[in-house]
Amino acid sequence: MDVLAVDHPLAKARLTVMRDARTDNATFRAALHELTDMLIYEAMRDAPVRRERIHTPVARTEGYWLANPPLLVPVLRAGLGMADHAHKLIPDAQMGFVGLARDEQTLKPVPYMESLPESLADRPVLVLDPMLATGGSMEHTIRLLIDRGATDVTAVCALAAPEGIERLDKSGLPVRLVTGSVDERLNESGFIVPGLGDAGDRQYGAV
Ligand code: PRP
Repeated sequence: MDVLAVDHPLAKARLTVMRDARTDNATFRAALHELTDMLIYEAMRDAPVRRERIHTPVARTEGYWLANPPLLVPVLRAGLGMADHAHKLIPDAQMGFVGLARDEQTLKPVPYMESLPESLADRPVLVLDPMLATGGSMEHTIRLLIDRGATDVTAVCALAAPEGIERLDKSGLPVRLVTGSVDERLNESGFIVPGLGDAGDRQYGAV
């Protein structure tokens, strides 16, 4: 699997704010918004463009538009914190939603909602979830997308564990990963180490 870890001082600084246990919910959300901008920017680097002649106030020149805007799919809850900023950068994008809660005993994703277009043939998809831990939630989401014909899927995650990357790699699913960091490992509770805790709880409070 193609993995891009965004190695940039500004991304590292936002991640540091998110990792720090002293950071409050509002500051955590703001740092995730800013990191999302950077991850989306990198995820879209090779997106095809449509050219069109335009007039500036001074001269004619070539203009560029996204040829095929992606479907954005935040994975609820935590992915909601990435959705608006991704949408600001790609205003023409349509958005779908997948709701999953990881069972903290089995570490398996439990689906509770799904709102996706019926056909995703020829449409790139960006899946937004701050955390790739065991990879179970991401694998479940990608299978939903592939069932609808998607062939070009990018997982956009603030943090990823090697175990989750290995799982996606072994699955053979057509996905690439753009992440702020590949961390060390998962602990016995399935949390990313060093990680940042639970990205849903840190944005919205514990449930
Ligand atoms: C977290 C996270 C991912 C998932 C990652 O969500 O946002 O969706 O766990 O774990 P995995 O790779 O092992 O599947 P959680 O289930 O805690 O729900 P939340 O977003 O509602 O907090």
